Amino acid sequence: MKILVVHGPNLNLLGTREPDVYGRTTLQDINQQIMELSGELGLDTVIFQSNSEGAIVDALQNTPCDALIINPAAYTHTSVAIRDAIAAVGRPAIEVHISNIHKREEFRKTSYMAGVVTGQISGLGMEGYLLALRACRKILGR
Ligand code: DQA
Repeated sequence: MKILVVHGPNLNLLGTREPDVYGRTTLQDINQQIMELSGELGLDTVIFQSNSEGAIVDALQNTPCDALIINPAAYTHTSVAIRDAIAAVGRPAIEVHISNIHKREEFRKTSYMAGVVTGQISGLGMEGYLLALRACRKILGR
């Protein structure tokens, strides 16, 4: 079972970026935990990060996978292109946010992805990615 994990813009700065909002865990730490749990669950996981909308669309189109986990970061609230790419590939998709987007500024409460993903995890920090992996395992195992 192949899983694609996509991290959107500015998530490469986790650890130093607004630590009061996103915590001190770095993207490298998160990715390490994702890979460790993937091994335990028997998932073949590929991780991709980009600050560019088009590069994320290309990754969604060109990386074969059975399910995907995506934190589109700021593009959550703006990108019809990423939403359409998720819909186009037609795979189970879990949207993850480190912070609770519904508890923050008004503009963050709208997710362009929400209508095309299987489910959303928001506000559980890096644990959200690990829960998403378990969810993928269950969805694919059915
Ligand atoms: C985020 C929330 C977004 O609103 C923000 O633009 C991000 C990160 C999160 O993981 O909490 O960059 O997706």
